[in-house]
Amino acid sequence: MTLLEVCDLTVTFGRHRRPALDGVCFSLDAGCRLGVIGESGSGKTVTALAVMGLLPEYARVSGTVELAGHQITQLSESGLARLRGDVVSMVFQEPMTALDPTMRVGRQVAEVLRLHAGAESGPARAAVVRMLAEVGLSDPDRVADAYPHQLSGGQRQRVILAMALINAPDLVICDEPTTALDVTVQATVLAKLDEVLEASGAACLFISHDLAVVSQVCDQVVVMLDGRIVETGSVADLFANPQHPYTKGLVAAAQLDAATPGQRLPVVEDFYQPDAGAKR
Ligand SMILES: Nc1ncnc2c1ncn2[C@@H]1O[C@H](COP(=O)(O)OP(=O)(O)O)[C@@H](O)[C@H]1O
Ligand SMILES: [Mg+2]
Repeated sequence: MTLLEVCDLTVTFGRHRRPALDGVCFSLDAGCRLGVIGESGSGKTVTALAVMGLLPEYARVSGTVELAGHQITQLSESGLARLRGDVVSMVFQEPMTALDPTMRVGRQVAEVLRLHAGAESGPARAAVVRMLAEVGLSDPDRVADAYPHQLSGGQRQRVILAMALINAPDLVICDEPTTALDVTVQATVLAKLDEVLEASGAACLFISHDLAVVSQVCDQVVVMLDGRIVETGSVADLFANPQHPYTKGLVAAAQLDAATPGQRLPVVEDFYQPDAGAKR
């Protein structure tokens, strides 16, 4: 069943500027994962924002975005707010800006739950701690009581993941979720993401500039360049037989990285130490 259908989506930010997105089309079935790969400025985040209904008002938008039967570009702000968190949630690029520095993280996760489920504070705390454990935080009670600055980058990104998943959305959009993390932490967070998506059955739109990262989470990818999709296919096909010159470059870069020992995404067990970064 199709969960998300993006059709001829074009987004322009200024009268004289070329479109940030130009006729973008793709679809995503329930429970499936699609990687969106492209260099900086190619339109990946604008695509994510369009699906979330978060484009600024001055953006000129044409084409359609249909999510779980809703026409996103036609929904009111309150209609969109009901969908966000419930049907779709997003893990943003910057883990530090996505969290309120003045609020304990447990309360922030509980807030997301309360907004949509109307949960009472007692059961909410239990659900939050359970979710924090599910995303691989080993001392979830203590993490719930911590402020964002008391956590490591990897721990913060797991908290964000918990916020994105706690209402069991149908679609989780991850926009460069691990770009700010060092490679070993990145690998463990991606492994956990893979696991929680599998367990929840949620679909995922996974954005990255890095083909090696995308291939850890997704089987299918679209390649973006200058606001257009230039190639679509399975990760395996892309690696084996890239068509577009840009994709050829991406594949060559990923293979070069893989050939340099210790440079990228080593295969590691979860040797992530939650306490190591906690006092930074
Ligand atoms: N709010 C905005 N106002 C004006 N231009 C924007 C805005 N957001 C993105 N853009 C432009 O749209 C293009 C695509 O940006 P973006 O989707 O953020 O790229 P990326 O692939 O790096 O995520 C860029 O040229 C960017 O400058
Ligand atoms: Mg971006």
